[in-house]
Amino acid sequence: MAFPDGTADFRSDTVTRPSQEMREAMASAVVGDDVYGEDPTANSLEEQAASLLGKAAAVFVPSGSMGNLLGLATQARPGDEVICVENAHVRNYEMGAAAAVGGIQFRTVATPNGEIKPADVEAAVEQSSYHLPISMLSWENTHNWSGGTVIPFELMEATSEAARSAGLAVHLDGARLWNAVAATGVDAAEYARLADTVQFCFSKGLGAPIGSILCGSEDVITRARYLRKRFGGGMRQVGVIAAAAAVALDGRGRLGDDHVLAQQLGKGVAELFPASVSLEQVQTNMVLVHGDGLPVSAEGLQRRLSEAGVLVGSISKHTLRFVTHRDVDGDDVERVLEVVRAL
Ligand SMILES: Cc1ncc(COP(=O)(O)O)c(C=O)c1O
Repeated sequence: MAFPDGTADFRSDTVTRPSQEMREAMASAVVGDDVYGEDPTANSLEEQAASLLGKAAAVFVPSGSMGNLLGLATQARPGDEVICVENAHVRNYEMGAAAAVGGIQFRTVATPNGEIKPADVEAAVEQSSYHLPISMLSWENTHNWSGGTVIPFELMEATSEAARSAGLAVHLDGARLWNAVAATGVDAAEYARLADTVQFCFSKGLGAPIGSILCGSEDVITRARYLRKRFGGGMRQVGVIAAAAAVALDGRGRLGDDHVLAQQLGKGVAELFPASVSLEQVQTNMVLVHGDGLPVSAEGLQRRLSEAGVLVGSISKHTLRFVTHRDVDGDDVERVLEVVRAL
């Protein structure tokens, strides 16, 4: 199911194009001025998202980055520290927004797969006093830079509990929360129970062209709405894009198909070059392929794939990241494997 120009694009699940159903929903969306709270399509999407996550309220935002920024800036004051893993999206890939706009600093934990343990929080908080004002914990589930790994539910529960006992608020960057749900069968509201605010994206695996949502208490979401306007995120007749997001959310049941494709890709590459893929890490819709285990460098493989019309991203000079999504299929995976076989 390559794109019309024949390209199979595995760079990210953000590259999907809106489906016909989304385009039709956009064309017929009933809209109003959302800054006045009068867009029925956006309002209904916010109600649906809040209810799915067991939260009192939600606010639709243009991007995951803005959802994260609002989650942090509504709960941490300027100068406060937020605990996260060192390769968290919120710290590394959002252009320093939390620091630039919210005056927030990150206290990073060096731990694999996005897994922050209760002891990590306790160790950070132990040193805390008015000199070290730690006020939040921020999760990322699934964890992008570890290849879409799922944070084990029990670990997340124990660490969130440790954070809350220390008086910290908890944010969940759930850009791909629905992938975690599809992989584990754990209800989204169960994950959301472990955080005060949850951001999830419609424009990742769910396949919408634009949009994310922040869910939380009435109080926090009221403040988030205020900050959204301050940051230029008040979007007027936004029902046009909320309509596509609603179709995307309704289609969340298909995310398991992306996971099956990732398994096919990961196993196919691992059969040829076992040291290049860690299959335990292939848990959702991503596969990391390490150049070390290949007869060519990661860059070399990326070049050969590109010559074959297959695009793939990298997370470092040595590691490629393949992401499966609605606009790639088994034939596209086979195109990848053909190139890898030819190595
Ligand atoms: C884990 C994670 N969080 C947040 C974001 C930010 O989303 P956006 O690109 O919509 O700002 C991304 C984007 O890739 C992401 O992977």
